[in-house]
Amino acid sequence: MKVLGIETSCDETGIAIYDTEQGLIADQLFSQVELHAEYGGVFPEIASRDHIKKTVPLIKKACAEAGLKIKDLDGIAYTAGPGLIGALLVGSSVGCSLAWALDLPSIEVHHMEGHLLAPLLDDKKPQFPFVCLLVSGGHSLLVDVKGIGDYKILGDTLDDAAGEAFDKTAKLLGLGYPGGKVLSDLAVHGDKNRFKFPRPMINRPGLDFSFSGLKTAVRVQWMTETSADGYSEADDRQTLIQDIAASFQDAIVDTLVKKCQRALKQTGYQSLVIAGGVSANTELRSRLKQLEKRMRIKTYLPAPKYCTDNGAMIALAGALRLLKKPHSNDKIKAYPRWSLETLQSMA
Ligand code: KG4
Ligand code: ZN
Repeated sequence: MKVLGIETSCDETGIAIYDTEQGLIADQLFSQVELHAEYGGVFPEIASRDHIKKTVPLIKKACAEAGLKIKDLDGIAYTAGPGLIGALLVGSSVGCSLAWALDLPSIEVHHMEGHLLAPLLDDKKPQFPFVCLLVSGGHSLLVDVKGIGDYKILGDTLDDAAGEAFDKTAKLLGLGYPGGKVLSDLAVHGDKNRFKFPRPMINRPGLDFSFSGLKTAVRVQWMTETSADGYSEADDRQTLIQDIAASFQDAIVDTLVKKCQRALKQTGYQSLVIAGGVSANTELRSRLKQLEKRMRIKTYLPAPKYCTDNGAMIALAGALRLLKKPHSNDKIKAYPRWSLETLQSMA
């Protein structure tokens, strides 16, 4: 079964084709990052307009990449939420229209289910059940995953998501938007022990996260350091930025790893999957590899390009669902808010 995946929930137009026999056969992506950079965040109307420009040309490119004609497709999967409503509506309208015109089944995919199942794109696939740490620009979740659609949220963020904390801190340090990756690249050269930032909620029971206090602690430190004499030299300032980046990253990664450890103990599961944009973070990945050895568990880290938004994860999630159950294509679906726990189980 060849399924076209359409992802337009935020600022990436991702189009891919997943074949349930051959695997991923086309993968196209256009990132709007540069369009939004000057606004310091995603400008929703610009995002929708650009998805309108890119979606159909990228579908044509994906078909060419796979050596297929559009009529060779067996189904269409589109991200129906959560996300920006205008952006979502572009992908869902194109997806449903195409499905109606070609008389194909279409299926609405939950963006976070796409992230959560992305590790199944790898040759080394996790077996159910597993704990999934889902960390992106909009979410920080620990999920008990028993099967496709069988999700129980074990922990959530009480305020900022992990990616949001990375991005806001990067912005404070003048690193642009979205600055998660830039901050993490600078952290490599910094001294993570120079500043001891709080590890939020680590000493409280439970699996919830909270990152706004950490963000404030970084802001206070930054203001204290930059208002003092001695940072007029460019080199000093660069060292300060690197040290703050490293100390901040250490605090956030420490918190994420400790909560994963706790979730594994609580569930008794042997497998940990990470997904979402922040799971591309090198420090997080290496600390989880250490946890793997310490706890004798298995960790599954998707290739960095499948950590951030992409069409492949949507094609895959849609294909797995369509394969199990026929789906009615009666209306265009777009849900800005949508809980993972309300999805239909495919067990
Ligand atoms: O999953 P994603 O592409 O989009 C959402 O669904 O939100 O995640 C984007 C988030 C942004 O906050 C970005 O700064 C963060 O993931 N991110 C990173 C890294 N790469 C992307 N954060 C830390 N380190 C990275 N290497
Ligand atoms: Zn995402």
